[in-house]
This record gives sequence, C-alpha cells and structure tokens, in this order.
Amino acid sequence: MKYPTQFRFPALVSLVIVLTAFAGLKVLAATPRLTVEEVTASKPLRDGIDIQAGAATIRITALREDIVRVRIAQGGTLPEDASWAVLPERREQSVDVKPLEDVGFVGFKTAVLEVRVERSPLRLLVRDLNGNHICNDALDNPTEFRNGGFEVHKQMPTDERFYGLGDKTGSFDRRGQAYELWNRDHGVEDTADPLYKSIPFFMGVTGGRSYGLFLDNTFRTWFDFGKQSRDSFSFGAEGGPLNYYVIYGPTPKQVVEGYAYLTGTPPMPPMWALGFQQSRYSYTPESMLRVVADKLRSDRIPADAVYLDIDYQFRNRPFTVDPVNFPGFPGLVADLKKEHLHLVTITDLHVAHVAGEGYMPYETGHAGDHFVKKADGSEYVGIVWPGPAVFPDFTRAETRKWWGGLYAEFVKDGVSGFWNDMNEPSVFDGPGMTMPLDNIHRIEEPGFAPRTATHAEIHNIVGMQNERATFEGLLKLRPDERPFVLTRATYAGGQRFGFTWTGDNASTWSQLRLGTQMLLNLGLSGISMVGDDIGGFGGSAAPDLLTRWIEIGAFNPMYRDHSTIGSMPQEVWAHGPEQEAIRRRYIETRYRLLPYIYTLAEEAHRTGLPMVRPLFLEFPNDFDGVDTEFMFGANLLVAPPPYGEMPEGYSVAYPEGEWYDFWTGAKAVRSPGQPSIVEVSNTIAAGESLSKFPPPVVIHPGLDTLPVYVRAGSVVPMQPLVQSTDETPQGPLELRVYPDWPDKGARAGRNCGGSLYLDDGHTFKFERGEYLRQAFTCQAQGREVTVGFGARTGSYAPWWKMMEVVVYGWPSAQAVAQITGTTDSLKTSYDEAAHALHIMVPDLAGKQELRVRE
Ligand code: GLC
Repeated sequence: MKYPTQFRFPALVSLVIVLTAFAGLKVLAATPRLTVEEVTASKPLRDGIDIQAGAATIRITALREDIVRVRIAQGGTLPEDASWAVLPERREQSVDVKPLEDVGFVGFKTAVLEVRVERSPLRLLVRDLNGNHICNDALDNPTEFRNGGFEVHKQMPTDERFYGLGDKTGSFDRRGQAYELWNRDHGVEDTADPLYKSIPFFMGVTGGRSYGLFLDNTFRTWFDFGKQSRDSFSFGAEGGPLNYYVIYGPTPKQVVEGYAYLTGTPPMPPMWALGFQQSRYSYTPESMLRVVADKLRSDRIPADAVYLDIDYQFRNRPFTVDPVNFPGFPGLVADLKKEHLHLVTITDLHVAHVAGEGYMPYETGHAGDHFVKKADGSEYVGIVWPGPAVFPDFTRAETRKWWGGLYAEFVKDGVSGFWNDMNEPSVFDGPGMTMPLDNIHRIEEPGFAPRTATHAEIHNIVGMQNERATFEGLLKLRPDERPFVLTRATYAGGQRFGFTWTGDNASTWSQLRLGTQMLLNLGLSGISMVGDDIGGFGGSAAPDLLTRWIEIGAFNPMYRDHSTIGSMPQEVWAHGPEQEAIRRRYIETRYRLLPYIYTLAEEAHRTGLPMVRPLFLEFPNDFDGVDTEFMFGANLLVAPPPYGEMPEGYSVAYPEGEWYDFWTGAKAVRSPGQPSIVEVSNTIAAGESLSKFPPPVVIHPGLDTLPVYVRAGSVVPMQPLVQSTDETPQGPLELRVYPDWPDKGARAGRNCGGSLYLDDGHTFKFERGEYLRQAFTCQAQGREVTVGFGARTGSYAPWWKMMEVVVYGWPSAQAVAQITGTTDSLKTSYDEAAHALHIMVPDLAGKQELRVRE
C-alpha cells in the first residue's frame, strides 16, 4: 500500500515554517512543521478537558462513562462538529467527569475510565480505574500532521488482537496487517485491498479487555496493526478532522453495543428478506425468471425473493425496463407475488447521460441540478454500464429526495426491494476506477454548514448516502412498509439503511472460508444485515462447493445465491437431485429456524449485536482466534469443515459448557479434560509432550452434514416448515429446550433461557405496540426440568394455538409433565434416538411454568 509522503510533526506546539527549495524547478514549497512538546494550557470542562498544546487545540470529552471522544486540530479552533456516521443526538450526549491534575499530567475520570494527558511529551492514555491499559499513545510522536492529513500512533501490547474494519480480506485477526479504506470496485481476492466499503472502526482485545476505536473521517484512511512497527499500531487520514472515539468494554459485546449507540443499528428488516433469495446476472428475458420462480415452487425449495440484475433495463439505464425482453413488467411482478416471491431489482446510481430522449432520471436530475460537477463546474460524465453517465450528488438532501422519488413507478408495480450497486462509485474510465478527486460535491444537509467538498472527502460516503436516499425514498413512497435496500459500498453508520453483501467473490473454497471471516468482521463493525454471494459470483461453483455454501449460508443473516454472467447454472437444482436434496434440507432448516432468526434480527435492530458472531463475542475469555467456526446468535455454534475441499477430519473448538448436536440431539463428545483445542494449544509449554493430553476428538462430517451445535442452557424457538414467509405456519410453535444438566452430585445446572420476538413481518406497527415478545427459562435439577414462560408483552397475536416443548438430553420415555398449579398430566412422547421428550402444551402466554420429572 502506498501512503502519502510523510512529514512528521513529533507532536503539536511550535509552528515553524520550513522553506524548501526544489533544485531545478525553482519552486519554494512551504511545509508547516509543528512539534508538540507539552501541554501549554488546559481547562477542565464539565464533561472533559480542553488542552492547548502550542498552536494545537485538543478537546477530550466523555459522551458516556465508557465512551470518550478525542478531537485534535492544528490551529486554535476545532473544525465543524458534523458527522455522516455518528447520530447528532449522540454527539450531544455528555456525562460529568472528575478533573485530574498533577505535575505530570492533566485529565479526568469517569465512573469507569481514567483519561490522562501526560504534559511533556504530550501523550494521551486511556485506562480503566484499575490502571489497566485500554488505549495509550505510543511513546514517540504519537500524533503527526502532514500534507493536510494526520497519523496517530498507539502502543500495541504483544497480545493485543484487532478485529473490525468491515469486510476486509486477509485474516480474521487484523494484527500484522495494514489496510486502506477507500471504496473500490474490485473483486474479492484473498488479499485484495481496498474493497467496496470503508468502516474506520476496529476493536482491540487484550488480556480479556476490549475497546473500540472509531475514526470518524470520510477521507482515504489507513490502519496499520503492527505491519510497519512491532510495538505500535497507527491510523491516519489524507485530510479531514482528527476526530475519534474510544469505546470501552470491557467485554466485546459492550464495545459493539457502544459503537451501535454512536452510529445506529440496522432497521427492522422485512421478514421476507431473511428467507432464501435467488439471483443471477441476469435472468433475462422475463421467461427465464419465470422458469426459475416456477422451479423453486415445483421443486419445493422454500424461497422468498428473486432478483433482476442490470439486463432487465433498457440499455442498462437505471429506472427503465427493457420493453422487448420484459414486455409485461407489472404482470410479471404480480405473477411472482402470486407465487409468494418478492422481486428485487437493481437500480444503480449512475444515470445515463442521455439528453432529449425523454429519459426522466436524466431530464429531471439535470433540470434540478442534481449531479456531481467537475472542478470547472460542468456536469461530470463517466462511463459505466449505460455508457456515458452522470452521478447524483447524494450529500444534498434535495438530491436524495429527488432520487427517492425515482422509485415511484417500481413501487407502484409492486417491486419489493432495491439493490444499489456500483456505488463506490465505480467509473470504468475514471482515475482509479472512480471519479476525479477534485470533482465537486455540495454538502447541503441538516446538521452541516452548507459548502462544497471535493470528491476526496465525499468518495467514501457516496454508497452510504445512495443507500440512504433509496431507503428514505421508499419510506416516503410506502410509509408503512419496511424498505429492503441492498448496497455494495457503504461507510460507518450505513447499517441504518439496510443490507449489504461482500461484493464479487469467486466460486472457490478459499472464498467460502474468507466469506465467514468477512461476515464476522462486518458484524463486529456494526453491519449486521450481511451476506455473501452463495456459491460465489465469479466462475462456476463445483457441486460440492455450492452445497456447502448453501449449508453455511442457512446460518448467515442474508441468504442469497448469486452468480455472474456466463457462469454455469448455480440454482439449487443445478448438479442433480442428490445435491438438490441436501441443499433443500438446509433451506428448509432455515425456514424452520425463522422464529429464532427473526428474534436475532430484532435484537440486532434494538442493540446492534450482530446476528453472526465470532466465538469470542459470546465467550470473551477464550477463542478470539477462532475464525472458521461462528455463532449464529448466542445459542448456535456452526463449525464447518475448515477445508471443505479436503475430506479430512477436524476437531471442533467447543467453547465452555456442554453442547448438543443440533441435528441428532446427542451431546457433543469431546475428550475429558479438554474443553477446547485452543486451550490445549495454549497450555502446552515449550518442550512439553503433546501426548500428555488426550487426543482431540476428530469429526468427519459427510457433505450432507454441516456440524451445528446448540449451547446447553438454551431455548431455541422453531416453526413448522413453510415455503415462504408469506405462508402462515400450520401447527405448534416448537420450543427446543437444551438443559444444562448438572454434573452428578452437583447442585442445579446453570439457568438457561431463550427468547422469542414476532410481529407482522413487514409494517411499522411493531413500533406502535403490535409485537409479541416472550422470554423463556429452564432449569435442570436431578431428574427434573422446569421450563418458565415469561409474561408475553405486545399486542401481536401468535399464529400458533399449541406449543411443542422438546426437552433434549432426557434419559427415558418415563416422564410426568405438568403445568405448575394444575394437576393434569400432559401428553408426552419420547424420541429415543434424539433423547428428546416431546410435550404438547397449550399456548402459554405468561408467567407459567412447565415441570417435567421422570
Ligand atoms: C457487479 C455486482 C454484481 C452484479 C454485476 C452486474 O459486479 O457486484 O453483483 O451482478 O455488477 O450488475
């Protein structure tokens, strides 16, 4: 990676102008040189501290007890306090702090943090109240300004690991790697960087403590986690404000929630968006899409959405429909609806530059002055799919409004969702595949002082503001329908507007592996509604690869099969009935799990916790290096073969506690005294023989088995199979109870629980109380299990009349099941193979208990 030439300002104080004469050119270049030697003045604030360091100004404030904001400017005033990412109401939050002052430092304390600024040399230290390092400036030259940009250096403990930055390639742990954040249309390759998104947020995890750092800067930024230096990491930007937030945990979950507090959470998705989606570049003509829709239904592949990629358009012009290949577009949408399939169409941001042809997006956009300008003030034209194209200036509220209105016709036709692609923005003939950096955007936006800005500043937020314009436009057109917007490019905070996917991956096993890492890091970076192209985009998926990908995708937030033009068929039925049968079973499992999955989506919406989670998010003391396994919510552990292409066995790293096999109900077997392979490898001292440890249990799952485990101590809600989310499930709500049985002689097992959230799946009535929320508990003791049904809240009526409680790990058919306070015994049946006791109970809506004893 090339960083701009570096001019060092060891810190910030005396401003010295160094005049450099370039021989031959007879040009004098003025290079401001700024050194920070010490704190020259400071003033405590109610919520932080103001520091003068010579010419430089520093303000550090506490937004919450656990969130600190750091702003540093070279001159006497701080830049405008405006942000595309951080919610305005959050930037206004503050807490009272206790000032600190000593000969050596100034600073303050919150209820959980100590912020010290050492006077000379000036260094910022953030610690917890026990004095533990959270995030400290490096010893030398921690802050450098140069060429209009800056770089910050922080100490890097030897055991610190780094996660986040969205879907970057390379390894799951970012340590030892350096990244550039500059939205770029570039296919996913194992080490390609930068890619489509810029999320300048990462999490540092060390010694069981974690914190997050969010650099809110839209320019080209970079992060170097110890690639250049062994004992410090650094981040910087080419321009814009030096403005970052330190979010303290100590648990990784608290960090994720703190970051969501600042930048927002995903909207509640329409439930259909969590179903199976079938896409391809491109289903054209119309008959091809109809064949796919019919086949999904006739082969009984549950599905909720099909896609139209660019070729449905007239000459690739956004917001048009090709009249030859799609002669009856509204009829097509209506017919798909009858098959309970939602249609998603692509609507790229580039507007074809065609004047005088009645192409409304150009005519109205031009008339309204909605397009980005060149430095000379003329409309910028670049080549993309439609040929010459112009680009909406999405940092203008007016332009976003105009853009949102372009969806009116499609919305009228009943198109359900929209896909914003190419919004890095990708420009085929532009410098670096995008537009010139001196192009002019206009910021005309509530919360910002009106001004123009170069593309260098706006580039990284074009995708996010495109996605936002679509989301807000749809809300206006269909106020009581939840929008579905899928974007490729985005910036921090983009999660507030919808879904994203990892872009153009390839049909290879290594990209299937990489996909998991990317989705996990996206989730840690606030972006929860994510997926990758199932089966891979580029190339043609081999049969087993597609099958494995469909299996794993069933446990990812978005579940879309997509592939490129010219590739071999990649639909579920490709490669024959045997493969199709396996794939169908996993898609069916996805639909059976929808109550659990939808509950996770609501949790993400409410708290910002991602739906797919690295193990360390649930088990912070362990496993921060495990990247092939992941948690789907708090209760399901998915452990795909790390190298699916090699039919070799592997051992699963089980986190603490007991685990049940999701498919068979059996307890997961692991060697006694060997709770996890990670622990084992960590405890082997140099020279110690491996043989003193029992050999790890190796599993050899066949292609038809994706190992999935359930955490002992959980209640997982499931439903009868449906073919789409439109269909009301027939039968009972299934509550799978996986007790945490106490060890022999031990007291009661740990409490266990789960929850359920439901609403109508598509409107905003849930915000007006029409939802259903219920918590469940369970407790195992001796030969007895008690399942608690919490009081249900919300007014949404359930679709079930009965509940089928399934207690796993039950030893025999012998069982007496009663609802506490009643004397009738309920009917039970026993599934011997699964060691599962089934009990039919009436719908228990509140504060009741089911007791089961042998
Ligand atoms: C881009 C997208 C891909 C899409 C194609 C055609 O490559 O990433 O998903 O199919 O453009 O629109």
